[in-house]
Amino acid sequence: MEQYAINGGNPLVGEVEIGGAKNAALPILAASLMTDETVLVENMPDVRDTNILLKAMAGIGAHVERLDRHSVRINASLIHDLTVEGDSVKKIRASYYFLGALLGKYKKATVVLPGGCDIGCRAIDQHIKGFKALGATVSIAHGMITAEAPKLVGSHIYLDVVSVGATINIMMAAVLADGRTTIENAAKEPHVVDLANFLNSMGANIKGAGTDVIRIRGVERLHRTEYAIIPDQIEAGTFMFAAAATRGDITVKNVIPKHLESISAKLTEIGCEVRESDDAVRVVASKPLGHTHVKTLPYPGFPTDMQPQIAVTLGLSKGTSIVTESIFENRFRYVDELIRMGASIKVEGTTAIIEGVSRYTGASINAPDLRAGAALVIAALAAEGISVVDDIRYIERGYEDFHLKLQKLGAQIDKVESERELQKFKLKIS
Ligand code: UD1
Repeated sequence: MEQYAINGGNPLVGEVEIGGAKNAALPILAASLMTDETVLVENMPDVRDTNILLKAMAGIGAHVERLDRHSVRINASLIHDLTVEGDSVKKIRASYYFLGALLGKYKKATVVLPGGCDIGCRAIDQHIKGFKALGATVSIAHGMITAEAPKLVGSHIYLDVVSVGATINIMMAAVLADGRTTIENAAKEPHVVDLANFLNSMGANIKGAGTDVIRIRGVERLHRTEYAIIPDQIEAGTFMFAAAATRGDITVKNVIPKHLESISAKLTEIGCEVRESDDAVRVVASKPLGHTHVKTLPYPGFPTDMQPQIAVTLGLSKGTSIVTESIFENRFRYVDELIRMGASIKVEGTTAIIEGVSRYTGASINAPDLRAGAALVIAALAAEGISVVDDIRYIERGYEDFHLKLQKLGAQIDKVESERELQKFKLKIS
């Protein structure tokens, strides 16, 4: 089983190129099934989740041609199956995007009920409510969900909770419905906007993405397009906190600084210097860091996907910090691992109370999920001595070449597959 071997304690310094956003790529790839014409998607991250999705698309008959690591050409004119299933698809949350995409185009879809990170109850009632409002019937049986409709008709939908997935799924189904759809209390995340831009480039008529009211006028069909995915806000934020936690100096390149505002604001608040340019952000952590309070919220609030990374950093910052998780109820599973590295954190319900300590020490730790796994890698990079991070398959779901990018910043990190390789790593660093 692959692990990361890490020798921590060095500041990370240098530049890192941020890839395309995983959470934008997933719906965009699914939506590329919505036209019979050929779609070119560029700046796609080469991570496990996108590769699983592409394989599932090929499995139902789409022609998927990988032009290079980050570009793919898709033609869905010969789709022969409206059922998406299989163990790997089940493991990714975003498999439910096939529902919106295939229901929109073919008026029927059956998809294995999604898995994804185990970070709490992840209901899909709002997706179902949206599909039903558009005229579909939805049924669940044997672990599969089916949505179908003789025809989809535009509707007025108010989401009871702000949901990225439901906003995206309803948007996809509604672009080819008859008439107008309004989604109120819609999610405003950059990837929601990116999907809307992608669909509009295919001839859809979506207005208001990025605000909490999205208006869609149904069109007859969608056409070919060439589209480049936006940079990954969460990958960028992860490296920004890596700079802070290791007291380093990292420039994240190829980003949209606007998408990083809530992250930059918190870093500034705890004493980092954050310098923005057109498409880069530099984080310098030369002074001792201070405490803060933070609550995760839908965009433009502080992202839940950055909660473990900020907690790891606050664990090494002077004073008492409070981190409140308001999106997913089970997102502190990494705290026990961090305590084993010397952190002083108490979790009470959805709140973590963090007393900053002066250092972490290396340990053997498990990545409990994607973002928490990345955060624990940051902790290990900041810690004194050697750490071994297990279950890195979670991290590879969403970070491309994570250890290679960290190596370029001066990190002592290797991917190892056996005890022998681990010993070799230890010899190399001694
Ligand atoms: C997406 C992201 C994930 C991120 C999350 C919040 C992808 C593939 N994943 O997940 O990385 O952490 O947004 O920014 O883009 N909810 C309901 N009913 C529903 C749908 C959601 O109650 O029908 C609740 C969820 O339990 C959760 C909250 O709404 O408490 C937000 O979930 P949602 O925005 O839907 O998250 P995902 O789309 O699953």
